[in-house]
Amino acid sequence: MADALQDIQNAFALEPHQFQAIVQGFKSELNSGLATMSASGLATMIPSYVTKLPTGRETGTYLALDLGGSTLRVCAVELLGHGQVTVTEVKRSIAVKDPLRTGTAEAFFDWIVDTVHELVQKINVQTPLVMGVCWSFPLDQKGIATGLVLRMGKGFDLKGIDNKDLQSLFKEAFQRKGLDITVTALLNDTVGTLVAHAYANPKVRVGFIYGTGVNAAYPEKVQCITKLQDTWPAQDATQEMLVNTEIDIFGSDDYLPLNRFDLALDAQHTQPKFQLYEKMMSGAYLGELVRLAGIELIDQRRLFQGHMPLQFTKSWGFETAHLSAIEKDRHEPDALDRIGLLFTFDDYTMTATDLTTIADLCKIVATRGAHLAAAAMCAIIEQQPQMINSSNDIVIGVTGSTFEMYAPMSDRIMHALTRWFDASVAQRIRIEPATDGSSIGAALVAMLYQQR
Ligand code: GLC
Repeated sequence: MADALQDIQNAFALEPHQFQAIVQGFKSELNSGLATMSASGLATMIPSYVTKLPTGRETGTYLALDLGGSTLRVCAVELLGHGQVTVTEVKRSIAVKDPLRTGTAEAFFDWIVDTVHELVQKINVQTPLVMGVCWSFPLDQKGIATGLVLRMGKGFDLKGIDNKDLQSLFKEAFQRKGLDITVTALLNDTVGTLVAHAYANPKVRVGFIYGTGVNAAYPEKVQCITKLQDTWPAQDATQEMLVNTEIDIFGSDDYLPLNRFDLALDAQHTQPKFQLYEKMMSGAYLGELVRLAGIELIDQRRLFQGHMPLQFTKSWGFETAHLSAIEKDRHEPDALDRIGLLFTFDDYTMTATDLTTIADLCKIVATRGAHLAAAAMCAIIEQQPQMINSSNDIVIGVTGSTFEMYAPMSDRIMHALTRWFDASVAQRIRIEPATDGSSIGAALVAMLYQQR
């Protein structure tokens, strides 16, 4: 490997002592977050009010809405029992530059409700209907169906939304459209993923999202969640509630080894110093980190012989999807042709050496991402010592575009987990894909709590 690339590899390396500092830092923030009285502001460890999980035997049809960083999905989820479901969905993408992201809350909710209307027409069912909403953003949850919207992130900056009750925003928008639909459950996508995976495998104890953003949920003892102390006392010492960690917000430069590319990315971001951990590893950022490191290689004439491709000339011009495509195709016989299409030059043709360099760079950046995801998983597994001490499988339900579309991610995450835990623990860890997790989870929670 050329020196300049080696230098970049060093900058993205996570040495064992750095990995350890991250796991320790995360564990201490898990506990300090549990000990705070309020979930307002930049909140972590948010109670979900979900204290029961499905058994896999439930049946019926429920609506679910899932808003992520780049996609809105509205689904009718039919629970068939035996852990099986069928899903009918209407999907919309929201481009990074879509004005809906920065307009008024009212316009945004009208757009959402139009999509719901389309689904209702498609499945041809009668209203009134109940719906579970999976909100992939921080929410200061006050009950199973109420919660105040906190700072959204992922490029959303809606006017008039902060600190509004999400259930009321939906209610008003459904009324404007004349639709008789009630939101009976609000949940974070991590909670949705955990609940959905419990329908398929009741042993699951971590719901993990690795997509545009990153985050995780797990069941915590109610008596350890200080925020619930006055309003929601534990029924008994063993009662658990799913907690949305918002681990994306964890971390500071005290223990996150931010390199020069991380710092450059953060400095040009609309929300600097926010979600530093997520910015090091999630789908929203891997492409940009490769672009920034790639520019350094180009400046040193170690890549593209100093020629700058169009995709590297603008911030966020290089997508994370390209990293996975490059790693997937790099050893194909026509790799140069295929990967060459991702880069546009005025007067240059990519060479085999360029191909190796850019593919190595993608691997370096993505591998650090996988290992950072593993660090969060290690902390959350250790937060549940009963799981480590038992002989049962340790099941993590994972979903999200970065995990699903980037083939080597799962093995790289597993590699870091295996390095961290004793063999007796590591061999019990199962990383299980929880595809469609959030929507199914939202429907399941709407079903479990429809009586309230
Ligand atoms: C972001 C959001 C968080 C969400 C995660 C995964 O980090 O803040 O609420 O769970 O992305 O989508």
